[in-house]
Amino acid sequence: MATITDATGARHARILGVGGYRPSRVVPNAEIVDAIDSSDEWIRTRSGIVERRWATPEETVQMMSVAASRKALDRAGIDAKQVDCVIVSTVSHLMQTPSVAATIADELGTEHAAAFDISAACAGFCHGISMAADFIRGGSARHVLVIGVERLSDLTDVHDRGTAFIFADGAGAAVVGPSDAPGIGPVVWGSEGDRADLITSKTDWPTAMETGETPYLAMNGNPVFRWASFAMAKIGQEALDRAGITADELDCFVPHQANMRIIDALARSMKLPESVKIARDIAEMGNTSAASIPLALDRMIEEGQATSGETALFIAFGAGLVYAAQVVVVP
Ligand code: UT7
Repeated sequence: MATITDATGARHARILGVGGYRPSRVVPNAEIVDAIDSSDEWIRTRSGIVERRWATPEETVQMMSVAASRKALDRAGIDAKQVDCVIVSTVSHLMQTPSVAATIADELGTEHAAAFDISAACAGFCHGISMAADFIRGGSARHVLVIGVERLSDLTDVHDRGTAFIFADGAGAAVVGPSDAPGIGPVVWGSEGDRADLITSKTDWPTAMETGETPYLAMNGNPVFRWASFAMAKIGQEALDRAGITADELDCFVPHQANMRIIDALARSMKLPESVKIARDIAEMGNTSAASIPLALDRMIEEGQATSGETALFIAFGAGLVYAAQVVVVP
């Protein structure tokens, strides 16, 4: 019997560059409150959100992804032709097939890179980073482009008090490649599908087609808030433990930007010292789901808050319910 050759990859993987795209249209709380009988003060106090970005018609999922990716490739010093695989995490590309990853890979100028979309909601970017690291170490790819992108404004009912002020649009991308030293720690991830009804589309497609009802996003926010604030601290701690570092050794905390109070609660529960720099992009960007972590990291790097070689803890959570956390080295 013949034996087949196994793939062999790089010893380690790391993020080589990140990039973000923030849509041009700034939407302050004042523009949202009347339709949901709310107030700027309520939104700021309960969520920390001051304003968010909603994409214009030209700022499509594809357009925002390509812009963020070009920036990430440039920062990584990697040509699109060196990218072997493109992973796009999104729940708001409103075209069932083909994957948006395939057309993004083409527009960027990759040479027939493997390309596919994943659906892991707000945790999708962290899922993509974990997959990219494994592909590189396993020998399936040398450079992987991971994109988190959403146009949640298309799926948000502006009259829904529970969601209209939260969800927003944007794209973030990361180039992952081989490394001499560990750059992406072990992922801690999972799902709790028995709680899937907490964040869900209001209808499935067959019903939407029959009734004409738009499948807007619906969220039972408070139980999600409580789950995220407590359970996710344990997941973050496990990611630190598995990466072999303590909270005192951590430099940056870049959690999913869902709610400022969740970010604060996680930092408190994990007893992160004052020295840890915390991403607080939620105030200006709202909740951009899969895009929130790469956008927040991109901003921290641009503003000189996070510097190359530092460690950063990601914790992401969302519809499913699903979650993922890992420690990475800042590119
Ligand atoms: O990204 C994926 C994961 N998603 C999340 O992590 C989101 C998690 N959830 C949250 O961020 C929070 O639950 C929200 C910000 C969505 C809501 O904050 P909350 O503190 O959980 O508020 P609540 O739903 O418990 O409502 C508190 C009060 C209620 O009034 P009463 O019963 O206390 O009189 C609501 O009727 O606030 C009222 N309320 C509002 N008032 C003004 C609910 N929505 C609004 C609103 N404006 N938009």
